[in-house]
Amino acid sequence: MFDNIAARYDFLNHFLSLGIDIIWRKIAVREIAKINPKIILDVATGTGDLAIEISKLKPKKIIGIDISNNMLNVGRKKMIKKSLDHLIDMQYGDSENLNFNDNTFDAITAGFGVRNFENLDKGLKEIYRVMKCGGKLAILEPSEPKIFPFKQFYGLYFKGILPLLGNFFSKDNSAYEYLPNSVVEFPSREAFVRELEKVGFKDSKFKSLTFGIAALYTASK
Ligand SMILES: C[S@@+](CC[C@H](N)C(=O)[O-])C[C@H]1O[C@@H](n2cnc3c(N)ncnc32)[C@H](O)[C@@H]1O
Repeated sequence: MFDNIAARYDFLNHFLSLGIDIIWRKIAVREIAKINPKIILDVATGTGDLAIEISKLKPKKIIGIDISNNMLNVGRKKMIKKSLDHLIDMQYGDSENLNFNDNTFDAITAGFGVRNFENLDKGLKEIYRVMKCGGKLAILEPSEPKIFPFKQFYGLYFKGILPLLGNFFSKDNSAYEYLPNSVVEFPSREAFVRELEKVGFKDSKFKSLTFGIAALYTASK
């Protein structure tokens, strides 16, 4: 699915979120900045926007992995254009079967990708395995706001307007139908924090962003 929409993904991301996704990535990066990470993995990196934001921390190496070659190719072109290709390595890789040694990364991030894992538990266990002790995790995911009137507005926009606009601009009839459904099927904020703890992470917590439209999950190993 992401292969089909790769060419228009960046435009649609910023357009459909009214640019707020850019702020959410900055907030996520601020969290990992606290431990001054040098080697960072961005899972489900897509076209690499979160990896680009992380590069502002001036780490030694960022590896972005994804299972969509078209998303990676769009990302690789962006890295070259921004002269970041020496720092950010965009690799093909499945988050549920990571091709890295145990305890490799100081920090691991995932922007709007974890919800797409076929097996969430397996993906989280792999992330835990390749993170160094003392490492920091930051995961961004859309979530359902609970308070009036954001809950009602979100229902109308996310389930009604967004799929129509997304399908029209991406020329893909199912991609943006999938988006609201995948959010509904994803565990609640509290349940996802418990999932992280179950896998072994410590200090797992969430922060609601923009009235609960998105959530930032953080944890340590
Ligand atoms: C919504 S995009 C997010 C891209 C980027 N992180 C961002 O912040 O814009 C989700 C990405 O997750 C990737 N993905 C889904 N399952 C994956 C997996 N098991 N391993 C690696 N990437 C995966 C998809 O190919 C897609 O590029």
